[in-house]
Amino acid sequence: MQETATILALIASVVALALAISNHRRGKRLKAGLAALNESNDQLRASFSGRGDHVAATDERLSQIEQRLTSLEDWRPGWQRQIDHLRTEAQNLAMLPSLHPRRLELAEELRPRFAPITDKLEPVLFPNQLAFDELDWMYRLRDRKFPYSLTFEEGMLFHFLVAANGLKSGYEIATAFGMSSFFIATAMQKTGGHLISADAYIEEEMEDFLYDHEATKAHVDKIADLQKQKRHSKLPRGLQFAIEGAMELQIESVVDYRIACSPEGVPDLLDGRVLDFAFIDGGHFGEQPILDVKSVLPYLDQDRFLMMFHDTQCEAVARAAHFAAAETGTRPFSIHTRNRITAVARGIDESTLQLCREMTVRQFV
Ligand SMILES: C[S@@+](CC[C@H](N)C(=O)[O-])C[C@H]1O[C@@H](n2cnc3c(N)ncnc32)[C@H](O)[C@@H]1O
Repeated sequence: MQETATILALIASVVALALAISNHRRGKRLKAGLAALNESNDQLRASFSGRGDHVAATDERLSQIEQRLTSLEDWRPGWQRQIDHLRTEAQNLAMLPSLHPRRLELAEELRPRFAPITDKLEPVLFPNQLAFDELDWMYRLRDRKFPYSLTFEEGMLFHFLVAANGLKSGYEIATAFGMSSFFIATAMQKTGGHLISADAYIEEEMEDFLYDHEATKAHVDKIADLQKQKRHSKLPRGLQFAIEGAMELQIESVVDYRIACSPEGVPDLLDGRVLDFAFIDGGHFGEQPILDVKSVLPYLDQDRFLMMFHDTQCEAVARAAHFAAAETGTRPFSIHTRNRITAVARGIDESTLQLCREMTVRQFV
């Protein structure tokens, strides 16, 4: 009996010991788990507190931006007022030439006459330009990025100069799609004159105003062949538009459209002619404008001629205008149109050039 009690007590002690050991181990595991939880809790807390800083910094930046925007908004009306003021000033300054009686007469005569043509074209400006009025736009064919024509105002001045000076024998480089030729040839219809207008149609082909001279010559060979084969629908769009426009204006007998590359093609075009009018508006870069001038000089009437330039804000064209003046012993006369037309002239009534300046609407904004 006593033996049995001893054995039971022993077993109870062993079980108690085993339980104690297992509880100790479980406690250890729980402690380790708790420590890991605490650690990740600390990390989370740390990372949240980092985010919190970040959010605070972003909030601050946003509020700075808001303040800046508010101050810009406060500024804006002031600046806007100044811009509006300058614009009004510019328009007031331009009001005198824009209401010049001769300018109004020219617009009244030519706007309706040209409307069937301009209605088919896209009026265009370069970026950041503003048109003063409807006469202050250039044009391009609706389905071509380039070339651009002169402005209607510039065309009216050409028309006026040719008619007022009774000029009769003209050459222009280049046609593009006919706009400048329409203004010159409608004036030559009045004087009983004739105009040759030539182009290589390279700008419409490239839809750019920079191109290589070899590519220009090759293009001329290609399209001249098409013309010989009478494949009219394959001809450049600009040439087709010019021919149709001349018919619309009933000046087909006054203007002759030719496919040619300047300068090498010019002697064939001008063979035996004496010119009293030349318009230089072909390639605007490198030596090309000077080469265009050189190609025309031998054909100018030595006593009386008017050579006009377009875009003398371009360095290469400005050089060509000075070159022409130096070669002919004259001085360039600049008219401040949108694209800066310039006359190099001899024996021409200077009051007509002066009048062009007086009818020109200048851009100040
Ligand atoms: C600015 S556009 C002429 C615009 C036109 N005078 C008008 O105001 O309606 C210039 C033209 O010069 C032509 N061109 C450029 N280089 C040429 C060259 N070497 N020979 C012939 N034409 C050329 C281009 O094909 C383009 O059509």
